[in-house]
Amino acid sequence: MSSGHDRTSRPIGIFDSGVGGLTVLKELLELLPLEDTIYLGDTARVPYGIRSPETVTRYAVENAEFLLRGGIKLIVVACNTASAVSLEVLRSMTSVPVVGVIEPGAEAAVRATNNGRIGVIGTEATIQSSAYHRTIRAIDPGVEVIGAACPLFVPLVEEGWTDDELARAVASRYLGEFRRSGVDTLVLGCTHYPLLKGAIGEVLGQGIRLIDSAVETARAVKEVLNSRGLLRRENDLPGRRYFVTDAPQRFKRIGERFLGSRLEHIDLVEIPPPESRGRPFDPPGAGVAVGVSGVRSQRGKEEG
Ligand code: DGL
Repeated sequence: MSSGHDRTSRPIGIFDSGVGGLTVLKELLELLPLEDTIYLGDTARVPYGIRSPETVTRYAVENAEFLLRGGIKLIVVACNTASAVSLEVLRSMTSVPVVGVIEPGAEAAVRATNNGRIGVIGTEATIQSSAYHRTIRAIDPGVEVIGAACPLFVPLVEEGWTDDELARAVASRYLGEFRRSGVDTLVLGCTHYPLLKGAIGEVLGQGIRLIDSAVETARAVKEVLNSRGLLRRENDLPGRRYFVTDAPQRFKRIGERFLGSRLEHIDLVEIPPPESRGRPFDPPGAGVAVGVSGVRSQRGKEEG
């Protein structure tokens, strides 16, 4: 029996840029219902998918630091964008295992393809990073990977328009290329896309297999916990905690659709914590460069 203080009884920490990672949490809870979980949605800084790798990595590090303070036994980077650009940095900062969504999705796609042509859809940042591309080709260099960014899918899903004419029209605009390119497998490389499976499947037809990174990630988490002897075997009352960096009510309203159940215990947090903030703005004339568009940069670099 678990003593309650051993490593297995520590919670799993999960973070995402906002509500999207709840699709990963949902699959995780189905597969590992006895685990305690702490979910962090960085709703003050969402979306990550339009930001630079440097900025997303900084956010990801700060999110991981927050979760690590909660004594977690494993970190799940539920956000595809954060997984795509910051996984190595996160792994270098802690001895706690870090599971991202890219590797499990890529492995499942390579297993699924028959013709060696795989499509990947995700945010602009995920597609630009080529992380899925690299990971898939590292597993099987013979596979061809075709990527496409589908930025409108995220607001569409948050609006709840997942199964109507509009969803099908947007899907058909983005995915026409895949119908022509002959891919037989498509990775849904963004937290929000599993909710569009119906519309995407309709547009692409039955010949294309959809890979849900959320499902694959949950399996990967189970495997890692199992292999390290960290699986929780007993828990009378599994604990679920949620933290957001802004707008908890919106998180609750939209998130319940993603999770498919009630969201309770949502706390607002500041990340990074106020005491660890960097210095305030330099005063004018203190070596701060002004870029061509008049945008000030603290790093002395032109921006704009
Ligand atoms: N969670 C992000 C992802 O999976 C989508 C939303 C965002 O751009 O922050 O890439």
